[in-house]
Amino acid sequence: MMEELTRAAHEARLHAYAPYSGLRVGAALETESGRIFAGCNVENASYGLTNCAERVAVGAAVAAGFRRFRRLVIVADGERGLAPCGACRQVLAEFGSGLEVVSVGSDGQRRWTVEQLYPEPFSEADLGRESDAGSR
Ligand code: THU
Repeated sequence: MMEELTRAAHEARLHAYAPYSGLRVGAALETESGRIFAGCNVENASYGLTNCAERVAVGAAVAAGFRRFRRLVIVADGERGLAPCGACRQVLAEFGSGLEVVSVGSDGQRRWTVEQLYPEPFSEADLGRESDAGSR
């Protein structure tokens, strides 16, 4: 499965729209049921509206009806695999702290759990609500 996820992230990276930064990123998310949803970064002339590859992959999965995930693979330029940005960490934490994140570079990879990347997310608990995120 790691190979399929890496391939899917590579393929999505080819579609990255990154004319401003030039950094092309692909991400592939594996659902608990074994489906794969991919995303790439989508930049905007109004820079702050840029969407990262990870959040695009989460959006694709959720829009298809999937909310329970096992692993996220990120592929980008760079030797050791990039560390996901803070906004993406918050978004990943919405769907569970156990999710494994693997970031692949040209010379190796780094692995974390979402819990390690982002131990104390703002969550539904802070809104006084029960979590609904893992209900599919
Ligand atoms: N980017 C991602 O897609 N994922 C990350 O985890 C870090 C940053 C993108 C956003 C932007 O298009 C470019 O990389 C440079 O920040």
